[in-house]
Amino acid sequence: MKIVTTIEELRDQLRGQLRTAFVPTMGNLHEGHLSLMRLAARHGDPVVASIFVNRLQFGPTEDFDQYPRTFDADCEKLSKEGVYVLFAPNERELYPEPQEFRVSPPHDLGDILEGEFRPGFFVGVTTVVLKLFSCVQPRAAVFGKKDYQQLMIVRNMCRQFALPTEIVAAETVRAADGLALSSRNGYLTPAERSEAPMLYQTLEAIRRHMAAGESDLAALEAQARQELIARGWHPDYIAIRRRGDLKLPTPTDLGQHVPLLVLAAARLGATRLIDNLEI
Ligand code: PAF
Repeated sequence: MKIVTTIEELRDQLRGQLRTAFVPTMGNLHEGHLSLMRLAARHGDPVVASIFVNRLQFGPTEDFDQYPRTFDADCEKLSKEGVYVLFAPNERELYPEPQEFRVSPPHDLGDILEGEFRPGFFVGVTTVVLKLFSCVQPRAAVFGKKDYQQLMIVRNMCRQFALPTEIVAAETVRAADGLALSSRNGYLTPAERSEAPMLYQTLEAIRRHMAAGESDLAALEAQARQELIARGWHPDYIAIRRRGDLKLPTPTDLGQHVPLLVLAAARLGATRLIDNLEI
């Protein structure tokens, strides 16, 4: 695997490549990321990964400085997966001057759910993703469904800017007990780690209630919230939404079995976890 740190070297390495498949990451790679690399290999060649902890998407009180950086271990994993080029720029390379031009997702997609609780997060994500796409010029790029709202926003950005990049969605990878893999799981204490699968179990319970015909979505969300609070969680949101646009389902949508999902974000101790489930 070739490791490049500048845009110029990256362009040299990829010159003439028309079928590049790209996986952007912030490093601290786990099995979830590696599954994205494998999916990328089915959608293009060569596979290019990036590691860049993007300051723009962190709020002032968030974990930018603490975010786990495990570069050598990450390189070993990527190399084993057959990744052709790793693009690992530093901040000066990607943001040599203040990034004043930014991508602004529409309010009704970017300022709800994650965007409501992490103001500016999606502006930071779409700005860096557009910039990385401009560096890599991928034919396809893979994003995990674990960050479902991010996946939708990036997909809509590509459509609206007519970018020639197909956005491929990868299934969430879970630990045996159901916890969605995430770099932030490493912040959990052992006691919190045993409690953490409860977030997924809560989503599963909502799915079961809906499959059994429950249609009072607000009541289901409220009950799930109460159950988490009773176990010591601090939920930001538990929301049943339409898969297509993340809007609230109407009674007609429910009657017509429009595809839905339930999304959740909650803090356990100092760690904020997110998850979602298609229902
Ligand atoms: O999902 C992530 O790891 C990040 O949001 C991304 C897409 C690499 C942009 O920094």
